[in-house]
Amino acid sequence: MKTVKVELAERSYEIIVGSNMWENLPAALKEVLRPGKVLLVSDENVFSLYGQRAIGILQEAGFKVFPAVIPPGEGSKTLYRANELYTAAIKAGLDRKTAFIALGGGVVGDLAGFAAATYLRGVDFVQIPTTLLAQVDSSVGGKVAVNHELGKNLVGAFYQPKLVWIELETLTTLPRREFLAGAAEVVKYGSALDLSLLESLEKNWPAFWEKDASFLAEVITACCRIKAEIVSQDEKEKGIRALLNFGHTVGHALEAATSYRYYLHGEAVLIGMAAAVQLALLLELLKPDEARRLLGFFARIGLKEAPASLTRSEVLAALKKDKKRSGKKSIFVLPVGPGRAGIFDNVTSSMVAAVLDRYLHEKGQGLLALDV
Ligand code: NAD
Ligand code: GLY
Repeated sequence: MKTVKVELAERSYEIIVGSNMWENLPAALKEVLRPGKVLLVSDENVFSLYGQRAIGILQEAGFKVFPAVIPPGEGSKTLYRANELYTAAIKAGLDRKTAFIALGGGVVGDLAGFAAATYLRGVDFVQIPTTLLAQVDSSVGGKVAVNHELGKNLVGAFYQPKLVWIELETLTTLPRREFLAGAAEVVKYGSALDLSLLESLEKNWPAFWEKDASFLAEVITACCRIKAEIVSQDEKEKGIRALLNFGHTVGHALEAATSYRYYLHGEAVLIGMAAAVQLALLLELLKPDEARRLLGFFARIGLKEAPASLTRSEVLAALKKDKKRSGKKSIFVLPVGPGRAGIFDNVTSSMVAAVLDRYLHEKGQGLLALDV
């Protein structure tokens, strides 16, 4: 078992990473939660795999468990589903001393966290993330949200959990496509934030690809450590936390332009990272060799092709609605070297158009190629 601490004064908490450590969970929960009732939030897929085990463990720890199971998928990250959780909590008589526990991927974690932040003006909250994406990114750092019909994650809060419990065994049942989408976030940490993680992934890629348990533990712990350090310095994204959005400007625009139904989040972010490398080349922030190295790294996962009907103007229109825009300018996180990135607002729309054309007209492969 490895421990990473998120240092946020009285809101500090631990992230525990390990394999087959279910039996240790009761003691860990008793350390951070008061005894009593808990709402166990999960989706149908995860609940059918791990729900009974989680209930048994929680009961063993002395908690009275009320399961709340939502349909899987992004469509459940809504105020409607949050309201269902409030109703379940009220009916179960959960008071201010109780807790919500999220068992699932980023959808469950974001929704349960949002509901925990707002139910009775805030109850305790624990994350048990079960997708790679949730283990390396969404369960850490306290961003919780639901979607609005006019955009993703538009209603939310910064609300830190009391504990993040990363049981690696859950990854054995994760569908391959979901694993690769999470891998894109791992690649994000290596390529934009940490050269030693990039080097380790390049060297040991087959172990990562085959989900080698000890290498996965090392990599997931490294990602959590990087994120924990950034969040400890900049919880509310006033500065360096924005670096975690590497690949997200174009990625979010692709997701929005396809109504969140075509790409998984990580798939869109990977395309966004390749677009960011091409933009960095146009701005001469990266040397061709450095760009080649990063693009070669992204190619190990491969970019998902755009749907045939998607046009450049649809993606550009979505970019203009990005909630992270500053005035009329889109903000881009761009690589300035392997394992290093910066924040830029000087990317012109003709640069973005040229880069999008490489993606849309060349089945994604144009973004991975270099002209120099
Ligand atoms: P998800 O929660 O929809 O899970 C993906 C699919 O995998 C679902 O069908 C789920 O039922 C299934 N699943 C989950 N764990 C499983 C397991 N162990 N075995 C088998 N199946 C399993 O998707 P996700 O990629 O985990 O999360 C995406 C969400 O995360 C998006 O809404 C995104 O906005 C959010 N997100 C939030 C943050 C943050 O900082 N809060 C960061 C990144 C992404
Ligand atoms: N996923 C970006 C962040 O947590 O800030």
